[in-house]
Amino acid sequence: MALFRQELAIDLGTANTVIFKDDQVVLDEPSIIAVETKSGKLMALGHVAQQMEEHTPPKISTIRPLMNGVIADYDAAEQMLTGFIRKAIGKKKTIFSPSLKTLIGIPGGSTPVDMRSIRDSASHAGAHEVVMVYEPMASALGIGLDVTAPNGNMIVDIGGGTSEIAVISLGGIVESASIHVAGNEITNDIIDYMSQQHNIHVGRTTAEQIKFNVGSVLVDLGDQAVEPYRVKGRNILTGLPLEADITYQEIASCIDKTVDKIESEILRVLQRTPPELYSNIVVNGIWLAGGGSLLRGIAERFTKKVNIPFHVAEDPLKAVARGTCLALKEPNYPFLMK
Ligand SMILES: Nc1ncnc2c1ncn2[C@@H]1O[C@H](COP(=O)(O)OP(=O)(O)OP(=O)(O)O)[C@@H](O)[C@H]1O
Ligand SMILES: [Mg+2]
Repeated sequence: MALFRQELAIDLGTANTVIFKDDQVVLDEPSIIAVETKSGKLMALGHVAQQMEEHTPPKISTIRPLMNGVIADYDAAEQMLTGFIRKAIGKKKTIFSPSLKTLIGIPGGSTPVDMRSIRDSASHAGAHEVVMVYEPMASALGIGLDVTAPNGNMIVDIGGGTSEIAVISLGGIVESASIHVAGNEITNDIIDYMSQQHNIHVGRTTAEQIKFNVGSVLVDLGDQAVEPYRVKGRNILTGLPLEADITYQEIASCIDKTVDKIESEILRVLQRTPPELYSNIVVNGIWLAGGGSLLRGIAERFTKKVNIPFHVAEDPLKAVARGTCLALKEPNYPFLMK
């Protein structure tokens, strides 16, 4: 069967692409490619391309083909997806070309044009059958929730380009919001803060390192507190090297407004949620997924603000891909879009 038919579950994210095959992660790479600037010829993808980002001479360019969860550069997206699919299915050549089915998570806010471009891009990348599922539904499945039960569950997926908030019941999305405020905006807050408060010019990679090491949404993390993180960069004023130790409290303050926007959107979705489902959510709690849910203190902060318990999913960066993988096994789920 494997010879004739292959199935891939894909989370094509703004920041990262994760692919499952036969219940295993076969690819987990940043959504980025490097091309020769003049010819557009592919030079590297994923991790290797990311290492080149912000280090390229003019003849090489790096491209992140997705913006806010949807394809922004069609040709680049197709090159990236083709490369990733090839890597995921292995390069072994067989006499028979196996039929390839892909199940792809797409943002809740996708327009018909966005959906068309994902579908075309996957077809050109070699998929014979393309099925799509809304990402919040996939995350809920990946977290292990019974999405078809008459029971309200709420998911908040904070990715790179979008934060998706959805209330799910009976196999459908009852209420939702998709906002373009997520990890990338938090990284930009850190870049601005470093230049305004410390006079240090840092790139995206360093800002993300700061976020991973001392990213926090609370100014008091109690026993979760972490040591300051040393940043080396260029003094914006003098051009000389400069070092600074950045504390988690500083990061909590500089990203506060952005986290607040996500928090307010969660409250707005809860306000629109029908009362019976709302009561279910109060009991079940609210699930956090996506890379943004790894910010220190996020469940505590949201729980305090919303007065409903928040839980961070296990391995939150893979919740969508794991969910699409589970959906591959249930082709009759009503929420799959063929
Ligand atoms: N430990 C961490 N702490 C804080 N942020 C993190 C951490 N790990 C990853 N992130 C952030 O999470 C984001 C990526 O998350 P994820 O892979 O869920 O996004 P995505 O699915 O690619 O994007 P989208 O869902 O918007 O299309 C990035 O902004 C990254 O900086
Ligand atoms: Mg995502």
